[in-house]
Amino acid sequence: MAMVIDRSQPPAATTSIKEWSRGVDHGRRLLGKRALVSGAGTSPGTELFGIGEAIAILFALQGARVSVVDISRERADATKQLIDELGGDAITAVGDLTDEADNARCVEMTVDAFGGLDTLVNNVALSQGGGNPATLSLDAWDQVMNVNLRAPLLTTRHSVPHLVAAGSGSILNISSIAAIRGFGSGAYAASKSALLGLTRDWAYLFGRDSIRVNCILPGHVFTPMGDQGGEVIRERRRRAGLLPTEGLAWDVAWPAVFLASEESRWVTGVELPVDAGTTSATAWAIQNLNERR
Ligand SMILES: NC(=O)c1ccc[n+]([C@@H]2O[C@H](COP(=O)([O-])OP(=O)(O)OC[C@H]3O[C@@H](n4cnc5c(N)ncnc54)[C@H](O)[C@@H]3O)[C@@H](O)[C@H]2O)c1
Repeated sequence: MAMVIDRSQPPAATTSIKEWSRGVDHGRRLLGKRALVSGAGTSPGTELFGIGEAIAILFALQGARVSVVDISRERADATKQLIDELGGDAITAVGDLTDEADNARCVEMTVDAFGGLDTLVNNVALSQGGGNPATLSLDAWDQVMNVNLRAPLLTTRHSVPHLVAAGSGSILNISSIAAIRGFGSGAYAASKSALLGLTRDWAYLFGRDSIRVNCILPGHVFTPMGDQGGEVIRERRRRAGLLPTEGLAWDVAWPAVFLASEESRWVTGVELPVDAGTTSATAWAIQNLNERR
């Protein structure tokens, strides 16, 4: 019988994912799938997993062949090594995804290695460029727009012919609750909102080619990107939603598995917040919950 994974205690360190996955029947929901995950590199100097990294690892554990794409060779290799150690099948493709030639090359490398492509995860992003329109740096604005919007656009442009050729396909955009709630995050919020628009637009454009396009909006997740402020911020994160637990990259990666799998074959154009209910209640209601404890 399949061992039940206690996902209330997901692994927080690279050593524990090996422990966590040993002897566990994860299911093989993505068997035969060929996936590209952008920005899936491992952050150096931390035991925390990034969302792209966790998606790449979980996809591989679910039987997909995974292309780990990142601007950093070191980061991409680290994720591939972890997948290799877990018995998965991964390649790396290194390039600056904001650059059209690099982007096209990364997609082609993936297709050449796997003989096609079934799933694209547009995960790459920078969380900078925030702030007041009066003072924000236009260079930072342009950089965030390039990485968070132009890169997914280019990867989608180069991937779609292969997804069409595969006969069915899935594109998953990783947005943020910053797309639908004020954060003061400037370019980040703008880019993540635009990704929602593109999700609906692409779902419309590619639906009749049997390509599904969906979007996940992660909430306040404890990742290298969100790892600032120590214990005070961690406690605030635990209290930001309706559930009492702090979200980890794995909590975003599991819904990504569903949206990439055939289990969601009739799901397209969807925006899924994965945020412990942060955006489903008012700030007032959540404050009430916290004061009751
Ligand atoms: N961590 C959170 O709390 C949180 C919350 C909401 C949404 N998100 C979203 O989740 C997604 C995943 O974040 P993450 O945790 O994987 O972030 P991360 O910072 O761990 O990973 C981003 C990766 O992208 C790579 N990268 C940056 N610029 C690149 C470029 N031009 N070309 C290729 N690769 C490039 C980096 O090297 C890095 O490895 C992002 O879209 C982010 O906006 C994260």
